[in-house]
Amino acid sequence: MSNIVKSNAVDTVERAAEALARGGLIGMPTETVYGLAGSAANEQALSKIFDVKGRPIGHPLIVHLSSLEELDRYALSIPQAAVALIGACWPGPLTVLLQRSRHVSDLITGNRSTVAIRIPANECARSIIAMHGHAVAAPSANRFGHVSPTTAQHVFDDLGEHVDLIVDDGPSTIGVESTIIDFTPPVPQLLRPGGFALEDLEELMDIHVAAPDGESRASGMLESHYAPQGKVLLVNSLSEAKSVLSAHPEARLISHWESLPLYAASLYAQMRQADHDGVPLIVAITPVPSGLGRAICDRLKKASHP
Ligand code: TXA
Ligand code: MG
Repeated sequence: MSNIVKSNAVDTVERAAEALARGGLIGMPTETVYGLAGSAANEQALSKIFDVKGRPIGHPLIVHLSSLEELDRYALSIPQAAVALIGACWPGPLTVLLQRSRHVSDLITGNRSTVAIRIPANECARSIIAMHGHAVAAPSANRFGHVSPTTAQHVFDDLGEHVDLIVDDGPSTIGVESTIIDFTPPVPQLLRPGGFALEDLEELMDIHVAAPDGESRASGMLESHYAPQGKVLLVNSLSEAKSVLSAHPEARLISHWESLPLYAASLYAQMRQADHDGVPLIVAITPVPSGLGRAICDRLKKASHP
């Protein structure tokens, strides 16, 4: 029997909340990518997340809330700029890094003094978290280093029966992970470009977001991550893509590059399909790195890293 359940079945939210209460893990839909969610209040569930993903302990997890009222429980001394941005962007594909409170498990933060938090726009996710009554910790529901899942079937393909329940709410609408902004330095820093365009954030906040400095703080900052099995070759134009394709008939071009939202929404599914079909060479046209194009470029660059 499959562990995939439709989000609109009558008892799905209850079943998902029960699984979380038992210390189980669920495949949770979000607008960015599917998450592997466990109760933030249950140490065993949290350590199971690392086992099931094959993720090294120490790589911190994002805390997902259902409403703004819970923020003070997990974060301390929230800067005014963060309050303003959160007010404008949540629920949505924005994660903020803040000073952690003592209520956050060390497994979530990887023993850091900071915690990453977001409220997802996906309504089913928020209903599940609200019914559970605690925050959930949720990394993307893929095997570590693999391409993130944007459908319930992708979650099943990677994690199968190791997840108690996978809630199918259709394909993730945005398709790339949330934008992560670190609000702990004096000038906020962009740790990961994502579903919320940096230009829009800067306009909303009326301040500048800097590039990250110092050592890598997010695994999304590693050079290779989000990688399919096939080799990924980046080109700058369709004509360049065409000449590669005519020299390599075994290659496949990632489509929908003409529209940034469609490109982002389908990118991971196309990479997974190419792997499934045994395509050895994936050709992708890099978009202009602004707006959603910044996140797409970032993921393509990581996928193409040898
Ligand atoms: O869109 C998303 O953010 C998805 C959905 C499921 O919400 N989640 C996601 O989680 O992408 P994950 O674990 O795959 O990526 C979270 C990133 C990692 O690169 C992690 O290192 C970083 O957030 N992160 C989390 N907590 C952090 C912290 N305290 N300091 C620095 N980086 C942190
Ligand atoms: Mg991930």
